[in-house]
Amino acid sequence: MITRRVSGDPLEYVLGWAEFRGLRIAVEPTVFVPRTRSGLLVEQAAVGLGPGAVAIDLCCGSGAIGAALAATVDDLELYATELDPAAVRCARRNLTGPRQTVLAGDLFDPLPDRLRGRVDVIVANLPYVPTEQIALMPREAREHEARIALDGGPDGLDLQRRAAAAAPGWLRPGGRILIETGRRQAPYTAEILARNGFRTMISTDDEIDGTAVIGIHPDVQRDTR
Ligand SMILES: C[S@@+](CC[C@H](N)C(=O)[O-])C[C@H]1O[C@@H](n2cnc3c(N)ncnc32)[C@H](O)[C@@H]1O
Repeated sequence: MITRRVSGDPLEYVLGWAEFRGLRIAVEPTVFVPRTRSGLLVEQAAVGLGPGAVAIDLCCGSGAIGAALAATVDDLELYATELDPAAVRCARRNLTGPRQTVLAGDLFDPLPDRLRGRVDVIVANLPYVPTEQIALMPREAREHEARIALDGGPDGLDLQRRAAAAAPGWLRPGGRILIETGRRQAPYTAEILARNGFRTMISTDDEIDGTAVIGIHPDVQRDTR
């Protein structure tokens, strides 16, 4: 283990797990290592969620965000989706509760149709690094994490655009989507959500360097007018 660590393997891959909000999350090589800053998404997503709420962890990676949300909200019905087979394997090790389902596939594609219009919250830490900036990332990320976990396209927002366009079909009226993004990208993420009819707000936490854009499903605006 020391030899691997000294030769540059990320600590979490050497150990086989990462700490996230007090949980031990299994990670295997190439799978995105959950970041402390994503705790903001968990905190904000949990606001107002009661027992039995329905949540989607979109592009769940190891499933860390969904696992932490499930540890915060009683009886959460959680669906986690992910494209990369290694990450799907890890998520299935981390999300083993009776109301936790990990589905392999692109964004919302693998979700059952019966969830349409029923989802209370979508948490989405999608790849958001602009392609050209991957080379500037710390070595442990750029050399060890899968490209698919980092690359958000030319401006980093490709996946966010796709998710924002599809999310309204899954959320219940008043449901929310929370997207982790970069501090400088946040106004653009908010604009993407607004263009899809969401009411938006930006939440930041300087202590953990977290930025989340929250979108509230458009139907609420219509209901309250
Ligand atoms: C930035 S990582 C975040 C992982 C996890 N949400 C977390 O915070 O630990 C993004 C994840 O999205 C997955 N991904 C990329 N494109 C995807 C797609 N089209 N559909 C589903 N998952 C995708 C990657 O494999 C990676 O696990």
